[in-house]
Amino acid sequence: MKIALACDHGGFPLKGLVAETVRRLGHTVLDLGTDSDAPVDYPDYAEKLGRLLQTGKAERGILLCGSGVGACIAANKMRGVYAGVCHDTYSAHQGVEHDDMNVLCLGARIIGPELARETVTAFLNARFLGNDPGQERHARRVAKVRTLES
Ligand code: RB5
Repeated sequence: MKIALACDHGGFPLKGLVAETVRRLGHTVLDLGTDSDAPVDYPDYAEKLGRLLQTGKAERGILLCGSGVGACIAANKMRGVYAGVCHDTYSAHQGVEHDDMNVLCLGARIIGPELARETVTAFLNARFLGNDPGQERHARRVAKVRTLES
């Protein structure tokens, strides 16, 4: 998959590790910056990432800020972006499997490197289950979320 990756200065310390993890899993990283710890505004980076998803240039995204929260709020304002802050592997895969989450948000001030690696792996290895036999309830619920969006 093509994975958009963006961060603000708070998320920057984690970006290299996340990029390496994504590549090791066989995916392509579309790195949207930022590229230093000089202060920037997280909504600008959430927007860059969201645009790649909206135009189909990326299939999923990973967004990093200090806590994961600001970037997640900003990303979720964009149509077609379904972001979640996950600092554990269960949420990271279940968010995709049940909720069709397409953006993982991490807080570089919250999560350590090993858990970040495992959480990114859980997110990228998961797929939405709502189209599988017996799992239609997830598609129904996601459709209701899409209705709220419009
Ligand atoms: C930047 O200091 C910090 O506010 C930002 O990275 C993020 O944590 C916001 O949610």
